[in-house]
Amino acid sequence: MQSDSGTPSDHRYSLITGLTVTHSVRRMTWAGDRAQQENLYVATPKYLITGALGCIGSWVLKHLTDADKQAVVLDLGSEPVRPRLVLDPSQLEKVTFIKGDILDLAGVERVIGDSGITHIIHLAALQVPFCRADPVLGAQVNVVGTVNLLEAARRSAGQVKNLVYASSVAVFGAPEDYPDGPMTHSAGLAPTTLYGVYKQANEGTGRIYWQDWQIPSIGLRPAVVYGVARDQGLTSSPTKAMLATALGLPYHVPFGGSNLMQWSSDTAKVMIQCVEAEWRGAEVFSWGGASVSVAETIRMLEEISPEMAGKLTFDDKQLPFPFEFTDAALEAAVGPLPFTPFAEGVRDTVEHFRRLAAAGLVGPGGLN
Ligand SMILES: NC(=O)c1ccc[n+]([C@@H]2O[C@H](COP(=O)([O-])OP(=O)(O)OC[C@H]3O[C@@H](n4cnc5c(N)ncnc54)[C@H](O)[C@@H]3O)[C@@H](O)[C@H]2O)c1
Repeated sequence: MQSDSGTPSDHRYSLITGLTVTHSVRRMTWAGDRAQQENLYVATPKYLITGALGCIGSWVLKHLTDADKQAVVLDLGSEPVRPRLVLDPSQLEKVTFIKGDILDLAGVERVIGDSGITHIIHLAALQVPFCRADPVLGAQVNVVGTVNLLEAARRSAGQVKNLVYASSVAVFGAPEDYPDGPMTHSAGLAPTTLYGVYKQANEGTGRIYWQDWQIPSIGLRPAVVYGVARDQGLTSSPTKAMLATALGLPYHVPFGGSNLMQWSSDTAKVMIQCVEAEWRGAEVFSWGGASVSVAETIRMLEEISPEMAGKLTFDDKQLPFPFEFTDAALEAAVGPLPFTPFAEGVRDTVEHFRRLAAAGLVGPGGLN
C-alpha cells in the first residue's frame, strides 16, 4: 500500500485476512528518471506449536516469549500444567492456548488461518509406551497427525513459511548395529518400536511434501531430553531421578548404559533456530548433546546432593538407541547450535525442581 505522497503508508495492512503486518520495507526501483517505490509488507512471524502442553513445547514457549515472539498452542489438553513449571505467569498470559486435536484437519487449518500462523513447530505425539498400548491411536496421532500439519501448511498457500517437526532417535536401531563413534544423520534407519516406525513414516511424508508441492520442512530427531516438565515417555526416568534428588527421595531408573542427553531448554532453542532458518527443502537431522551413562548421571546427582548416596539405583540395561551423533549437518544448515554442558543442565534442573517443590508445584507424585 502506498500513500499519495509516495511514502509508505503507516497503516497496518493485511495481505491475507488474519495476517498482522507491523512494518513495511520500501524497495526503490528506477524507471526512466522517475522513482517507483514498491512496498513489500512483511508479516509478523507467528508460531504455532502443536503439543506445547508437553515438555519440549513448554520450553519452546519460554524461549519464544522471552524473545517477545507470538506463540499459539494447539494441544488436546486445556490446562497449561507443564508450561506453568517453566514460564512465569506474565509470560503465560502472552501465549494463546487453543484446545484442539491435530486429527481434525479443518480445525488445524482454521487455527493457521485465523491466527495468521507463519511458522509451525509440530510436537504433538504419543510416546513409546502409549503407542505400544494403543498402536492404532498411535498411528493416527503420530502419522496422520503429521500429514495433517503438512497438508494444512500446503493449503495455507505460502502463508506458512517453514515447518519443523519432531522425529526421534528411535528411527535408528540399537547402538551395536552401527560402527563405533559418532553417527551422522544419514545413518541407516532401523526402528525397533512402533513409535520409531511412525516417526520414520513422518520423515518420508516430509520429503514427499517437498518433492510434490515444495512445502519446506525440517525434521529433528531428539534423543533423551531431560529437564523440568519431562515427566512421561520411556526416557523420562533420568529427569525423575533429578526430581527425586530435589525432593530427597529414593528413585530407580529402569535402564542403564549410555544415552544421548539433551537439555530441554537447548532442544527447544534448536527447534526455534530451525523453524526461523531461511530454508528450502525437506531434511531430517540428528544432532549431539552429552553422551553420558546412567551411572555417571547418578554420580553427578550424588555430588549435587550428598544425602542421595545409595538412594538412586538403575538397571544395567542399554536402551536400543544410539547415543553419539555429530552436529555437522545441522550446523551446516542452520548455524552453530546451543549446547549446555551436562553438569550445568543437571544442576539447573535440580535447582529449578527445588524452587518448584518449595512453591508446591511438584512433589512425590511426579516420580510415578
Ligand atoms: N522427550 C523426548 O526425549 C523426545 C525424544 C525424541 C522425540 N521426541 C518427540 O518430541 C515431541 C515432543 O516431546 P515431549 O516430550 O514434549 O512430549 P510430551 O509427551 O511431553 O507432550 C506431547 C503433547 O502432545 C499432546 N497431544 C497428544 N495427542 C494430541 C493430539 N491428537 N492433538 C493435539 N495434541 C496432542 C499432548 O496433550 C501433550 O501435551 C514428540 O513428538 C516426541 O515424540 C521427544
